[in-house]
Amino acid sequence: MFGSRPSRPARQDHEAGRLWWRDGIIYQIYPRSFMDANNDGIGDLEGVRRRLDHLAWLGVDGIWLSPCFPSPMADFGYDVSDYRDIDPVFGNLQDFDRLLADAHSRGIRIILDLVPNHTSDRHPWFQAARRSKDDPKRDWYLWRDPRPDGAPPNNWTSVFGGPAWELDPQTGQYYLHTFLKEQPELNWRNPEVVAAMHDVVRFWFDRGVDGFRIDVIHAIAKDPELRDNPMVNGVQKRLHSENHPDVHGMLRALRRLADDYDERMLVGEVYLMDPAEVATYYGAGDELHLAFNFSFMHAPWDAGAFRAQVERFAKLVPEQGWPDHVLSSHDARRHASRYDHATLGEARCRLAALMLLTLRGTPFLYYGEEIGMRNVEIPEDAMQDPLAWTLSPKLCRDGERTPMQWQPGPGAGFTKGSPWLPFGDDAGTRNVSRQMEEPASLLHLYRDAIALRRRNPVLQRGSFQPLDSPDQVFAFERRDGASRALVALNLGTTSVNPRLPAASVQGGLRTHARLPLPEDAASLELRPCEGAVFLTAC
Ligand code: NOJ
Repeated sequence: MFGSRPSRPARQDHEAGRLWWRDGIIYQIYPRSFMDANNDGIGDLEGVRRRLDHLAWLGVDGIWLSPCFPSPMADFGYDVSDYRDIDPVFGNLQDFDRLLADAHSRGIRIILDLVPNHTSDRHPWFQAARRSKDDPKRDWYLWRDPRPDGAPPNNWTSVFGGPAWELDPQTGQYYLHTFLKEQPELNWRNPEVVAAMHDVVRFWFDRGVDGFRIDVIHAIAKDPELRDNPMVNGVQKRLHSENHPDVHGMLRALRRLADDYDERMLVGEVYLMDPAEVATYYGAGDELHLAFNFSFMHAPWDAGAFRAQVERFAKLVPEQGWPDHVLSSHDARRHASRYDHATLGEARCRLAALMLLTLRGTPFLYYGEEIGMRNVEIPEDAMQDPLAWTLSPKLCRDGERTPMQWQPGPGAGFTKGSPWLPFGDDAGTRNVSRQMEEPASLLHLYRDAIALRRRNPVLQRGSFQPLDSPDQVFAFERRDGASRALVALNLGTTSVNPRLPAASVQGGLRTHARLPLPEDAASLELRPCEGAVFLTAC
């Protein structure tokens, strides 16, 4: 580290009543794919550092780095073999400290990806645990004897396919793994495990890290008796293997730890299909600061569906909580591909961006979405994601993890070596440097909408109220004292007047950048897949 003082951000926003993770924008970086500084074809922390100016230019407030800890990479970093170091492929702790300090000097926070549910099978804890039934670390994981017929101890299945139990021949017992067999499950009912994980969190907070994205937090507590999961219509319901009520106490303890520091935050991946359950992870304002809202990932391109998802989550988040919105991540097909369309694909990207950046709730951007990166088709024999072979090539996540397209030409400004995954065919035309030169590009729209949000607290903290509008339109109002913002998004293929209330337009932007703003919001005509945000007096 630089001296012994942890790096802290230059801008102390809380002094102005601004809270970075609530009022700002968070940008997810998949470190393998953002920028490769040492030209081995794989992105690294020094690469991220060299691209900080792009993020500062864009106007983001925080970066979430997907795991960069030492890992055998069976699940590309979600199998951690040391929680207190950096994998050599990404650099070392000095590189991390340099990145953190340089980010902080630009007022950009960094959150790391905590993977508390499981370790790598190469983690020294598991290596010790599997040595013998009497090893002091044995109970750090979940071990059970086979059933009399040799079958696994219960019927739980792995999210990645097959049984969730692996027989360890040396001691004749099975161990539990919700994901790959290389990702053995930690036993969070053992206080030593809790203490060890708290130490990890402190280690990074003391270094100056601003928060954590917590992986599969809903799975850390299991039914103490490990009872069979029930089958509903032939499908296993994960009643006993995840979302156990005891998880909330464990989370409150983590939150207390975060609250011992200033302005740190916890955002959790609560991958449950029922948003009402997801919302319980806010507790009474004493659990997660943010629970990922993945609603858009399951919503079709439809104004009614978008409105319903947003309204539903908004109502579920408790008063002390704060919503958030996600369009894309490293686990789902990029939204530019999900919502692609023969003629309106680009317009849809613009509209989705405007929606994300004007809704009430923290926007999470996924690297590359600011230039409209699409999923890249990876030939089956070149697939790297383990899901491709444990489940199905159709579920392979490589397509959304391809390297960032910075500039035209070989290596796309990402690497001078051979990239670990191929670039999209469009890298020569869809890239940062090209879009930087075009004021009407998607990249500039992201930047302009972020700047608008940053300048207008009504777009950060204002209330949210959907407005009556034609079926093809999702329209809403944000209010904060005497300030108001009106947003109208036409998801349809025809032009429409969204029927915004009469109000004198004082500023704003529309996704068809070259069209002027109307004087009166009520006279707005939206073209197919066009959106607009207007600032007006109340
Ligand atoms: C969720 C992560 O987002 C995903 O990428 C990973 O495979 C699983 N958790 C297992 O850690």
